[in-house]
Amino acid sequence: MRLEIDGVTKTYGATRALDGLSLALPAARILVLIGPSGGGKSTLLRVLGGLETADQGTVQVNDHRLVADPAALQAYRRKNGFLFQQFNLFPHFSARKNITLPLEKVHGHDPAKARSMADHALGRFGLLEHAHKLPAQLSGGQQQRVGIARAVAFSPEVLFLDEPTSALDPEMTAEVLELIQELAEAGQDIILSTHEMGFARAVADHVAFVAAGKIEECGPPARLFGAPASSLCQRFLSRVMRY
Ligand SMILES: Nc1ncnc2c1ncn2[C@@H]1O[C@H](COP(=O)(O)OP(=O)(O)O)[C@@H](O)[C@H]1O
Ligand SMILES: [Mg+2]
Repeated sequence: MRLEIDGVTKTYGATRALDGLSLALPAARILVLIGPSGGGKSTLLRVLGGLETADQGTVQVNDHRLVADPAALQAYRRKNGFLFQQFNLFPHFSARKNITLPLEKVHGHDPAKARSMADHALGRFGLLEHAHKLPAQLSGGQQQRVGIARAVAFSPEVLFLDEPTSALDPEMTAEVLELIQELAEAGQDIILSTHEMGFARAVADHVAFVAAGKIEECGPPARLFGAPASSLCQRFLSRVMRY
């Protein structure tokens, strides 16, 4: 994917969530956002995914120039897949129905086609035996995997994942990270935020350090983790990598 973000600001009341953020990546496969809480990672993901629009600045993702036109943004959003930290699934629908519903209602597939797409996605991630279960009958890790299956069931242009493992225990974190790694290896373009530094290092081709509404630094993981240039990034990494 190609990203061109120039001078983007986004404010919520008195808070500047994004503060003149810029980033140009001509070719990226897996972009991982790291940085302190409140730094702007989720806001950046929402702006890049077309869920929100920037107050100022320009955003281009591949061939899409994101502008505050509701119809164009909706069309853009439908090309992308999303998964957030938690509460991704409708609690009163089965795993399968959670996947078929948007395929029918948002993407306009007939029920039979939606079902075969859903079962293909569930099967791909070893979840078919859980297709009939409600989210509450699944582990947190299984729920997130169903959420990812839903997000990739229609082959999204870009998959956006916002701290997909932060509500999970270590074992479930591993099963979700393995699935993301698998998607990455299959060629899916992904932008994700995470606090899992080992994973970021292993899976990313670009890591961006987001703090105080800016991208302080962006580079290949070996460089960013091995020799961070900005003092903010150095301090952040020395704190989070200490234990
Ligand atoms: N919908 C919102 N309403 C008000 N403030 C928000 C909203 N979303 C984010 N913020 C604020 O914007 C800043 C950046 O938040 P966020 O993008 O969630 O950072 P991160 O994901 O890195 O923790 C924070 O100060 C946060 O409180
Ligand atoms: Mg966040």
